[in-house]
Amino acid sequence: MALVKIILGSTRPNRFGIQPAEWVMKQAEQVTEHQFELIDLKDVDLPLLDEPTPPMMRQYTKDHTKAWSQMIEEADGFIFVTGEYNHSVPAALKNAIDYLFEEWNYKPVSYVSYGSLAGGARAVEHLRGICGELRMYDLREQLLMPDYYHHLDEEGLHKFEDSHAEQIQLILDHTGFWADKLKDARKELHEMNEPT
Ligand SMILES: Cc1cc2nc3c(=O)[nH]c(=O)nc-3n(C[C@H](O)[C@H](O)[C@H](O)COP(=O)(O)O)c2cc1C
Repeated sequence: MALVKIILGSTRPNRFGIQPAEWVMKQAEQVTEHQFELIDLKDVDLPLLDEPTPPMMRQYTKDHTKAWSQMIEEADGFIFVTGEYNHSVPAALKNAIDYLFEEWNYKPVSYVSYGSLAGGARAVEHLRGICGELRMYDLREQLLMPDYYHHLDEEGLHKFEDSHAEQIQLILDHTGFWADKLKDARKELHEMNEPT
């Protein structure tokens, strides 16, 4: 069974991101074909990249890097839940991505984004380029939530619509499908890169 990790990229106090991340996880609990897990980067608590060698060399010196490497290595696919900071990827998410290389390779990725008018679309467009460089398989499936703050109740809780639930179902199914299919294929792909 494939393991898909849902990664919440916002770490700031009072972040909205925890709401869609927990909601996605709740929806995922109803999917029985694949396994899903939520990673909150706030708990992972990585400092700004502090390894002396580039991640492609995989010569990690810090315990936090080794732990993060393990968390990503064991996953078969990812769903990034992200806001948009100044038309791009929140720094905490970019930093966490930059820490590693091989661990991301040959794994599918899809996106849930939120923000004002563009609903986080520009952050996701940037993520697609970044994930390509990491040899990830970027899926078209995406849930975009524009002007999310117009859909909060008096307690600040977001009202997720049926359309959101339909779209997330598609994301979970497609990401799980490819996570499963690529499990064996990625071993062969890694071997192609080994020096002979
Ligand atoms: C540093 C910063 C930059 C922002 N830039 C954008 C932006 O470019 N586009 C946008 O739609 N919203 C932007 N916003 C508003 C965010 O969409 C909104 O604050 C959202 O709640 C951020 O996600 P978070 O609460 O999970 O951190 C920005 C917010 C912050 C804190």
